[in-house]
Amino acid sequence: MDSVRIMLAAFSAEDRKFISGLLQDESLRIVSAFQPDKDGLKKAGAQPADVLLLGTRGKADREYDFAERMYTTRSDITILLLAPGPSATDIARAMESGIARVIDIESGESAIRTQILTTASRDQNRRSCVVKVSSYDSKVVACYSPKGGVGKTTIAVNIAYALASMNKKVALIDLSLQFGDVGVFLDITKGDTIADMVEERTFELSTIRSYLIRHQSGIMVMLSSNSPEYAELIRPEHIESILSTLRTEFDYVVLDMGVSLGDSAISAFEIADSILFIVNEDIAALHDAKRSLKVMEALNLQDKTSIVVNKDGVSTIKVGDVTRLLDMKPVLVVPFDIKSAVMAVNRGIPMLNCASRSKASQAIRTYARSMVRRV
Ligand SMILES: Nc1ncnc2c1ncn2[C@@H]1O[C@H](COP(=O)(O)OP(=O)(O)OP(=O)(O)O)[C@@H](O)[C@H]1O
Ligand SMILES: [Mg+2]
Repeated sequence: MDSVRIMLAAFSAEDRKFISGLLQDESLRIVSAFQPDKDGLKKAGAQPADVLLLGTRGKADREYDFAERMYTTRSDITILLLAPGPSATDIARAMESGIARVIDIESGESAIRTQILTTASRDQNRRSCVVKVSSYDSKVVACYSPKGGVGKTTIAVNIAYALASMNKKVALIDLSLQFGDVGVFLDITKGDTIADMVEERTFELSTIRSYLIRHQSGIMVMLSSNSPEYAELIRPEHIESILSTLRTEFDYVVLDMGVSLGDSAISAFEIADSILFIVNEDIAALHDAKRSLKVMEALNLQDKTSIVVNKDGVSTIKVGDVTRLLDMKPVLVVPFDIKSAVMAVNRGIPMLNCASRSKASQAIRTYARSMVRRV
């Protein structure tokens, strides 16, 4: 790697000067120095860098809180703490705050420099591996519609089920953050939710994995928050961290989106490889869809957006009309099948399982097969 870019954060100017003096080496470059306070948070949030080095010659205390805040927002940097004679408690606290390593400020210039370099380059390698894996073998599929009740959850659950039946490793994430009901569709009555996970503030794979609930089909499910007010806790950067991590672990990550086109949804769409935009053959819904598709276009998401018609066959509006109106040909048309759909929800079993031969199930299964072939 080229020189390591360091943001140096210490409360006293003398400490900043002292620590800068320890880092005189051409492989290390201090790109900014500031106090780890409120202003510092803003600076550290925007500064391109590889390492955040928190330093003190006294007892570290408020530094942990600063590290914790940076850890959730800047997954691209390595956080280090330079402090005198760290105890086991200090190290445990540092780890909880997302600090990758605690370096003893009294261990000598050269040992300090080596530890910064090795930790930074190890972290950078790990991150670049994650990026490589993610761009190859996983697919994040978001099921969305600005309209309620069109069949987002039905499509998401059953695509996930079809993929899991083909022995794919599938995660199904309920991002209908206010009124998610994936749990109802899969008869998962209780369990940890995405809001509990976000409260824990760490987005390591092992932590995220512990919040996934295994459905008997093999699908790993993350439930939405239990109550609408928790939805606000979930920020776009959380969604980004969760999805970037999950895509390295699963063949498919299927997202059941809510109707919102807020910041969190947009960040999920940005990460998604494809967005299935679900519509019904009803004129008001189609006009809403048209408006929403314009917004998606403005967000530059049009190339990964496809149309799915659900509940086909009960209206005078036909698939051809949908194609003309939206100027896009649907990639999947699911027939209206109230008997199978209602039985599935009432029993908490995916329609593909409990009404496997219904025309609606067959259409979804065929589409899921084509997804696998396309990889
Ligand atoms: N192809 C279909 N034929 C008949 N009924 C269907 C079909 N697909 C879904 N339904 C039914 O329509 C209702 C709404 O479906 P679903 O909950 O999947 O929609 P949604 O878009 O996720 O809704 P929400 O916006 O409330 O999350 C459910 O009762 C479901 O059983
Ligand atoms: Mg739903």
